[in-house]
Amino acid sequence: MTDILQIRHPASATERDLVITDATIRAPELRQFVIDGEPLATYDPGFMNTASCRSSITYIDGDAGILEYRGYPIAELAEKSTFLEVAWLLLNGELPNPKQLADWESLITEHRMLPDKLKTLLAGFPYDAHPMSILMASTAAFYSFYPDARNFTDPQARALNIARLIGKMPTLAAFAYRKGKARPYVNPDDSYGYCHNFLQMLFKQAERRYVADPRLVRAVEVLFILHADHEQNCSTNAVRSVASSGNDLYTCTSAGVGALHGPLHGGANEAVLRMLREIGSVDRVPEFIEGVKAGRVRMMGFGHRVYKNYDPRAMIIKKAVDDVFEVTGVNPLLEIAQELEKYGLTDDYFVRRRLYPNVDFYSGLIYEALGFPPEMFTVLFAVPRSAGWAAQYQEFITDPENKIARPKQIYTGYRARGYVGMDDRG
Ligand code: ACO
Repeated sequence: MTDILQIRHPASATERDLVITDATIRAPELRQFVIDGEPLATYDPGFMNTASCRSSITYIDGDAGILEYRGYPIAELAEKSTFLEVAWLLLNGELPNPKQLADWESLITEHRMLPDKLKTLLAGFPYDAHPMSILMASTAAFYSFYPDARNFTDPQARALNIARLIGKMPTLAAFAYRKGKARPYVNPDDSYGYCHNFLQMLFKQAERRYVADPRLVRAVEVLFILHADHEQNCSTNAVRSVASSGNDLYTCTSAGVGALHGPLHGGANEAVLRMLREIGSVDRVPEFIEGVKAGRVRMMGFGHRVYKNYDPRAMIIKKAVDDVFEVTGVNPLLEIAQELEKYGLTDDYFVRRRLYPNVDFYSGLIYEALGFPPEMFTVLFAVPRSAGWAAQYQEFITDPENKIARPKQIYTGYRARGYVGMDDRG
């Protein structure tokens, strides 16, 4: 039986049945109601209750604290998979078999190098440039090097450019980092896996061969898996929105990087660290909490549009914190973070609003322990998210229902005014 929603508008004596599918109504059907000469629409700033697409990539139940990629629980993937396995899963819908994984890993390895001329672009940035600014400009510049990315309806060209993007993101991130430190770039080492190679490109100094502690390599792997996708978040929405006008993957990724950079999204872990430093000591936590409750500041790393329960990624990261600190020593800010969390989980202000730690609350502490400055934190988010953006991009491009993103507005300004000449403007 078709499920319907009956809507009645008494003023115009109109009654209509709207078909419900997947617990949604089709907003264009509301146009059947005409109110004051205007077709009825929905008003939903920030897409609080609007599905913008159909997707089979990532499932979230924010009330229950569930996150799954292609149906696989995130905790299991974080425990048993590598990042590249997960990237394949996001892109192809299934976990790779051994041959598929080996081919995929060697394809990604093949595409790790940056085009040589990109170094000229990097050289043009000031030394204190924010690495996210470098990342945004450089991912956009990839399109100049690989214009076949516009040929996105060809599955082969699309797959090649996806592999290029995922292969090059760590190299770009590491080069942006080393530029800020005025250190020479370190090229990829083909004998290393994705995450170990990333660490050697970042941290290799004068030694012949950089070898990272396997616990740190695994911690990066876990962080990358947790950050790989998160359905229709702000940056993914930016990627899909830019894709909707017929753009290539690189232009869309650059838009995603820009959206991710904001402190309410991927920039939050950087903001968490700054917040912890400003608080400075555990005894100042109550005063800070009072400021949050009075609306003077936000508790960064807390709250989420979708999770109204503990963010499952934060739970896994909290465990990874211990593994990393075993190698690097404990970050003194951890104590402050734990005290803040205690308040957050018990104080009525947070409990009533269902604010819990999100993925960014503890990730910054790990990144700092690994030796990253705060401005690199969002870059470390963008590298693995490129896999999710690519999967979402591909899904959008191949979706027969896709449309150019073009929301409506409620116009609140003047209408049809008489033009005021320069002499009469006062
Ligand atoms: N600290 C204090 N109060 C908060 C916080 C917070 N971190 N987050 C939400 N609130 C309060 C709001 O003031 C509001 O209170 P009110 O009802 O009295 O006005 C209520 O909780 C609802 O908040 P909204 O801002 O309406 O919630 P929204 O879903 O729009 O925002 C967001 C979600 C942006 C993540 C928000 O919780 C926030 O700013 N958190 C801090 C930044 C952060 O950690 N972002 C990372 C998110 S995870 C990610 O993007 C990877």
